[in-house]
Amino acid sequence: MKKYILGLLVLVVLLMYGCAQPTTGPLVEEPSEEVSVVEEPSVMEISVTAKQWEFIPNPIEVNKGAKVILKMKSVDVPHGFILPEFGINERLDPGKEVVVEFVADRSGEFEFFCNVFCGRGHSRMKGKLIVR
Ligand code: CUA
Repeated sequence: MKKYILGLLVLVVLLMYGCAQPTTGPLVEEPSEEVSVVEEPSVMEISVTAKQWEFIPNPIEVNKGAKVILKMKSVDVPHGFILPEFGINERLDPGKEVVVEFVADRSGEFEFFCNVFCGRGHSRMKGKLIVR
């Protein structure tokens, strides 16, 4: 008698399981669409002011892989902007905007500095680009 009840119970469980299956089957599942994982490289546009004897902002912080657009302008005397690791070397004449672009393809800290003599603080007119 015990065996019979147990068998019945197993049968009931199996039936319930069997009946429950089709309702949770693939019918309710949305067909999965292909999702593009190729990320657009972000573009970071940064305005940089050069003046005796600093660059603003400093440090300049960007994301690795970003296309960086620096819009630079001197507000007093001629300055320079040289960022050797990314091949940038520009003269910044007062009031004239200079735009440079580069891809920040390496992480790290890179020094930039002024390479046009601009007064007694010229040699300490420098800054840092941080890529992370
Ligand atoms: Cu600014 Cu030299």
